[in-house]
Amino acid sequence: MYDFIVTGGCGFIGSHFIELILKKGFRVLNIDKMTYVSWENIGFENHPHYSFLKADISEISNLPKCDYLINFAAESFVDNSIENSEEFFRSNVNGVHNLLEHIRMKAKFDRPLFFQVSTDEVYGDIIDGVFTEEDYLKPSNPYSATKAAAEQFVYAYNRTYGIDYIITRCSNNFGCRQYPEKLIPKVIMSALAGRSMTIHGDGSYVRSWVHVEDHCEAILALVESEKRNQVYNICSGDEASNLEVVNLIYERMNIEPKLQFVENRWGQDLRYAISTNKIEKDINWKSRFKLKETIDEVIKFYKDKYEKNS
Ligand SMILES: NC(=O)c1ccc[n+]([C@@H]2O[C@H](COP(=O)([O-])OP(=O)(O)OC[C@H]3O[C@@H](n4cnc5c(N)ncnc54)[C@H](O)[C@@H]3O)[C@@H](O)[C@H]2O)c1
Repeated sequence: MYDFIVTGGCGFIGSHFIELILKKGFRVLNIDKMTYVSWENIGFENHPHYSFLKADISEISNLPKCDYLINFAAESFVDNSIENSEEFFRSNVNGVHNLLEHIRMKAKFDRPLFFQVSTDEVYGDIIDGVFTEEDYLKPSNPYSATKAAAEQFVYAYNRTYGIDYIITRCSNNFGCRQYPEKLIPKVIMSALAGRSMTIHGDGSYVRSWVHVEDHCEAILALVESEKRNQVYNICSGDEASNLEVVNLIYERMNIEPKLQFVENRWGQDLRYAISTNKIEKDINWKSRFKLKETIDEVIKFYKDKYEKNS
């Protein structure tokens, strides 16, 4: 019997969440199929409370007993989904459906809380103002469409079978161990290698950044609260355009920016912005970190890795 099953725990956010719950003394089973983004030798592999199963959530035929199932497993890179969304559908929709099916087959007292880690991208973009949890979902690209579809299955399985859930919609995360296809590690790695950084459009897309540890702490706080069958937005309100983020990184690395502006892609949202009133009011959660105050530690993580490998 595990306290937690975490899926996708060898990815960026899931691995930080596992670190957090192991520190708190929980027993965890990590189910990850190990895609190209997954990390090996993160540091918790030999922890006595940690177990690992290499498996695809859309194919598992048995779900061990646990109190909480936190589903991070997903294909998560929008650009890949624009190229081909088949794998996104399999992992992000069929995967969630399969997990929910396994939960519904269990006796009611044996069912874990199903925690779906969703994204603010399910709302689509917003030019002014912020989205609240009551707003309707209008995803702009295949990735966010699969995340929105997964949410619909979670509501339906709650209504039809009484499965308890929490859904969180978090804004863009930053921190150590993010795969360098995403903006922040990509800029750092390009700068270290002396390559130019490609900017789509004029770099004016606005994103709200949240530190990965803030995100993980919010998830654990919700699990430990009495709140169930609710949706929560999570963000820090730390908004910046892509160009501002890129320039901040070059400035902190003390490297002259080498930028190459290319044509905009379809399916990219102009601005994401969400309200966190609900999570603040319900469980008194607030983010602790700001991008400008913590970006140096992220740069150091990638710099150390780069120097070790070169
Ligand atoms: N990164 C962000 O900024 C962000 C923001 C909001 C929400 N999210 C959501 O958080 C979750 C984690 O994001 P991330 O950035 O850590 O992603 P990631 O791509 O770094 O890691 C995903 C992990 O899931 C695993 N995985 C993928 N498909 C699987 C499958 N079918 N079965 C088992 N394992 C599978 C991968 O091997 C990988 O280890 C995702 O669901 C994503 O939609 C991410």
